[in-house]
Amino acid sequence: MWVLERLWESRRNWGRVWWSGRMKERRRWFMDGGEEKRRRQSRDGKRRHVKAGLAAESLPGLTSRRGVLVAGAVERGVFDMPGAATAGLDGKVALITGGASGIGQCTARLFVKHGARVVVADIQDEPGSRLCAELGADAASYVHCDVTVEDDVAAAVDHAVARFGALDIMFNNAGIGGAACHNIRESTKEDFERVLSVNLVGPFLGTKHAARVMVPAGRGGCIIGTSSLASAVAGAASHAYTCAKRALVALTENAAAELGRHGIRVNCVSPAAAATPLATGYVGLEGESFEQAMEAVANLKGVRLRVADISAAVLYLASDDARYISGHNLLLDGGFSIVNPSFGIFKD
Ligand SMILES: NC(=O)c1ccc[n+]([C@@H]2O[C@H](COP(=O)([O-])OP(=O)(O)OC[C@H]3O[C@@H](n4cnc5c(N)ncnc54)[C@H](O)[C@@H]3O)[C@@H](O)[C@H]2O)c1
Repeated sequence: MWVLERLWESRRNWGRVWWSGRMKERRRWFMDGGEEKRRRQSRDGKRRHVKAGLAAESLPGLTSRRGVLVAGAVERGVFDMPGAATAGLDGKVALITGGASGIGQCTARLFVKHGARVVVADIQDEPGSRLCAELGADAASYVHCDVTVEDDVAAAVDHAVARFGALDIMFNNAGIGGAACHNIRESTKEDFERVLSVNLVGPFLGTKHAARVMVPAGRGGCIIGTSSLASAVAGAASHAYTCAKRALVALTENAAAELGRHGIRVNCVSPAAAATPLATGYVGLEGESFEQAMEAVANLKGVRLRVADISAAVLYLASDDARYISGHNLLLDGGFSIVNPSFGIFKD
């Protein structure tokens, strides 16, 4: 018994010594500018593993076997440490349509925060340019782009490649609400066509031109669209908006089927309502009253959907954490679309 206790005690002590040695090593590495070195290498594309929370340099002579670290595997890209991943976009180049406002603007900020360089493409030149100036010329660049005009979309994609050297992430996000007309007898052909043009033809052109540069570059890529809760639930928006957003899911799936062989993932997010100029303008309510109205009909209570939640989902889909996810429509609706409240069997 005594022998066992001594053995256990010495094992624990050895563990403490080993861990404190590792921490000292990591601290020394950090002080020596290792973090900056890691970022630089990652940007140059020399480093395959940007995900690991602990940098490979801090774990010399370790490799993996069944989740235990043992020699050099982190550098070789053999081993992923579960739970240690960060949604890093180091060295990635993203193009965001509709990036001057709302979800697009929030996502541009988040992408830059996570190490990406972004091209913001929009028809609102003043806020788009201001955003890019704020993010810094090294990290962001604005380009005027009407997503319904093919030459504009092609030029925006080419601008991303010329300015930052590649295109890794295409976020087809620009959209309009169209007329808040909920009566098909009064809906106009002009409005229907305009909504389809921005919300569906725009993402089609974005996907087409992103693929034009991503496929020959041979480094995979990621295309993300902003669909809507209306892609899954009828009666949530106008006919035009609903048709466009549902068709965007079809485009997402078809493009994922075609582009998978090139290592290009295609997904979309489908949010419920978050307060942006598009949504508040469509609903006719602002700020607190908008959010209260949305919460009243929501399935998930006590949480209000914000643009930051949507951007976080886009970041996830864009990152290597989602490297095996393609053809997916990620609903951000607090379960709204899977519940039929008219049954109402769950009561407190
Ligand atoms: N906010 C919501 O509740 C919500 C919910 C579901 C889906 N969406 C979708 O999210 C996307 C972003 O919208 P948002 O809510 O951030 O609204 P927003 O109005 O804040 O942003 C939309 C952006 O798209 C730009 N845009 C519009 N037409 C364009 C065009 N032809 N070419 C280029 N840019 C154009 C606008 O200038 C604006 O900057 C849209 O596709 C929208 O349908 C929004």
